[in-house]
Formats: sequence, C-alpha cells, structure tokens
Amino acid sequence: MSTQRLLGMRKIIVAIDGHSACGKSTTAKEVAKILGYLYVDSGAMYRAVTVYFLEHHIAITNPREVARALSDIKVSCKINPQGMTETYLNGLNAESKIRKMEVAEQVSQISAIKEVRTAMVEEQRRLGKKKGIVMDGRDIGTVVFPEAELKLFLTADLLVRAFRRQKELLERDELVDLDDVIDNLKYRDQHDTTRKVSPLVKAKDAIIIDTTHITIDEQVDEVIRLATGKMVPFT
Ligand code: CDP
Repeated sequence: MSTQRLLGMRKIIVAIDGHSACGKSTTAKEVAKILGYLYVDSGAMYRAVTVYFLEHHIAITNPREVARALSDIKVSCKINPQGMTETYLNGLNAESKIRKMEVAEQVSQISAIKEVRTAMVEEQRRLGKKKGIVMDGRDIGTVVFPEAELKLFLTADLLVRAFRRQKELLERDELVDLDDVIDNLKYRDQHDTTRKVSPLVKAKDAIIIDTTHITIDEQVDEVIRLATGKMVPFT
C-alpha cells in the first residue's frame, strides 16, 4: 500500500507474540518502519528491569525490595537517528547491556513477578494509546492489547531459533556455545508458558506464522498484507 493510501487509513495495533528468538523483533521493527508506526519491544523492557535488578542485587523474593526497586526504575523507548527504537533505563541507553546472555539467563524469573508486569503493562498501554504501534512480546495480544486489530503468534523450530540467536550474540561480540543458547531458549519457553501471571499463550484470534523455512522479507510481506487487510479508511 502506498504511503498516500496508508495516510488515509485509521491506525491499528499490531500485536506480535511468540516463543523466544523466533524473529518477532526483526519482523516487528521492519513492519513498523514500512507502516510508519511506533515499534516497541516489550521484551527489552523486561530485560532493562533485569539489568537494574542484577546491578542492584535486588532479592526477588522480598516484595518490599522489589517494590522499592520498581519505584526507582524508569524504562523508556526513544527513536534513534536511524529511526530505530532503543530502550533506556533511568535515562541511559541500555541497548548493549540488555542483550547480553547474562540478562537472558535471568529475565524469565523477573518477568514472572506480578508487580514487574503491572508496571511494564501500564507503560506499554500508555505507548499504544494513540494506536499506530507494533509491539512484540509474550502477552501483547492476550493482556496488553486484547483489542488489537491484528494479532500474530510467531514460532519456529528450536534449532533454527538457536542458530539465529547465536549469530545475533556473535554480532554483539558475545560468543556463546550453541548448547547454552538452546538450553536458554528451552528454559525461557518453559518458564514463560507455565508462569502464573500472563503466561505465553496464543490468543484465540491470533494468526500463527511459522518462520522456520521463510525469510525475513517473506515474514514482513505477510504481516504487511495481514495488517493492511485490517485497516479501514477514515470516513
Ligand atoms: O528476543 P527474545 O525472544 O530472546 O526475548 P525478548 O522478547 O527479549 O523477551 C525476554 C523475556 O522477557 C522473555 O523470555 C519473557 O520472560 C519476558 N517477556 C515477557 O514476559 N512478556 C513480554 N511481553 C515480553 C517479554
């Protein structure tokens, strides 16, 4: 759809959920760019909280300590000069810290804390108030924006996901054994799908996309096709 035609359409919310490292963020980023929408990586927000908890040695079993930490944390998203959304923790760019394996190893425990989720969901909803947003995560179509016009559930074979994640880590100068990456993805999938609060489940009305055998361009084209199909013109 041309930019001109997109401008004549009401903005929608695109919610992308799914397993770890199945291409949600890469797809969401590109889709947001094409549609001229805001992109929000909700996983990055949980990773930023994890960085804070690790740096401040927060005891996650102590509710008072967790509450105090949350009142001291401000997670925000800013658009960089290249048009990419970056995550900030208390005013500092946290992008390189949040992608580290050390953070991936702890994030599922921290994202399972109810108070952490309440704080992040509030911020996510604020960002989506005006629609025109693509957000990816685990509970976007089920909890954050159950009214989203388009809901997608991405998945892919474990080994393919592990190879992709290992390559991403390498691009950030972190060499991680493939078995360790596999173990981490398995652990997070298990933890994220079985936790009590907002577990990762497919929303009833979400469309499944298996990215095992398709390229990023194919993924993006498919999501754009589905998204534009949900748009209605201003009357
Ligand atoms: O990119 P990757 O698939 O590795 O994960 P992520 O999207 O960065 O999310 C990191 C972790 O944050 C997940 O394993 C979940 O534990 C948690 N998360 C969540 O609980 N809810 C969300 N909406 C997004 C992420």
